Amino acid sequence: MNQSQLSVLSAKYGSAFYLLDTQQFKENFSELKSAFATIYPNTNIAYSYKTNYIPALCKIVDELGGLAEVVSDMELNIARRVGVTPKNIIWNGPYKNPQEFETLLVEGGQVNLDSFYETELLKTIAKNHPEKILNVGVRVNFAINDNTVSRFGFDVESKEFFDTLSAINQLDNVKLLGIQCHYATRRLETWRPRAEKMLELLNQIGIVPPRIDLGGGLYGKIHESLKKQFDAYIPTYQEYAQEVAPLFAEKFGSMPNPPQLLIEPGSALVGDCMSFVAKVVSIKNIRGQYFATLLGSSHNINISGKNPPLTVYPLANERFEYDNLNFVGYTCIESDVLYRGFNGLLGVGDFVEFANAGSYSVVLKPPFILPNFPVLDISGDNPVLIKRQECFDDIFRTYSF
Ligand SMILES: Cc1ncc(COP(=O)(O)O)c(C=O)c1O
Repeated sequence: MNQSQLSVLSAKYGSAFYLLDTQQFKENFSELKSAFATIYPNTNIAYSYKTNYIPALCKIVDELGGLAEVVSDMELNIARRVGVTPKNIIWNGPYKNPQEFETLLVEGGQVNLDSFYETELLKTIAKNHPEKILNVGVRVNFAINDNTVSRFGFDVESKEFFDTLSAINQLDNVKLLGIQCHYATRRLETWRPRAEKMLELLNQIGIVPPRIDLGGGLYGKIHESLKKQFDAYIPTYQEYAQEVAPLFAEKFGSMPNPPQLLIEPGSALVGDCMSFVAKVVSIKNIRGQYFATLLGSSHNINISGKNPPLTVYPLANERFEYDNLNFVGYTCIESDVLYRGFNGLLGVGDFVEFANAGSYSVVLKPPFILPNFPVLDISGDNPVLIKRQECFDDIFRTYSF
């Protein structure tokens, strides 16, 4: 993006917008999948919709042969609208609307049980549909080196876990399609333990389900300036694959029908595929501290205290050199800071682009103070409007005035 392209975009779409690179998303998908598949060919990706459910991205995943990983009936409906066939949908998460739970199972989708409450629900659903084969997965929870007691899934040492396995076994029309785990940490050193413990568990229970799902929790491609701000090493896709795929190759490589290794990345695929652009609306000095207010907020980029990679587009008429300037948001929250300690030339009317804004950004933007800005796909010759500017009625039509 250069200065003149940006000023054309702002004339058409306003003073703040997201830039989406769907081509980069496609490349990330293929590169991540092949990092694992070159070691263990039967690998696939179930894209974590919650991370960024822009329908255009969900559709790309479907077209590239990936699965939809959803965690609510709202997300399930995105997959349906995008045209994902139910057998390519995996429903995770701690709450599932019971009617939609039943519908997806009947349609042939995979529902991963998260608690014994859902096992009881499954028994009823199975009785209601004796003529259908219902595909379920079980989310398992074992300790790894992440110093966290996760609240999701079944404790693999619990009675409820074994009761769930035997309930599935006893229901003639229920098939255990997958075993899944997910850990929020993205640290590389947690990946081998996930795989080792998963394989140990399968050994112990004497089951090799068709899908073995190690969840998400991978870092994506991060700009050098941002990498330095993490206390963890940021691995490549290939480094993650090296931690787990060889274990699968060794254990299942010679089987005629080896199970599928699934991963559920969100951030790793989409983080670097979006940036957020906002205009500088004012610059002021308060007791020696410079503030540049943007038509944008930290809610738009959700970067949690780090300085995102930043590019300034010099569109202002008058610009000055600043030292230790903070870029701040349009909200009335003191902590709404997008970037701290900028040094350089800036003017009112410049545009600032924040990169690495693809993960948990649009999906977590609250209707706080202002509705959200448009999303433009800039991967082709001409920008394509992927999401229009939100308006007053988008937010307020659900209220009674
Ligand atoms: C079950 C599950 N899978 C996948 C993901 C995606 O995680 P990430 O964006 O870290 O890859 C999450 C995120 O919370 C999740 O809960």
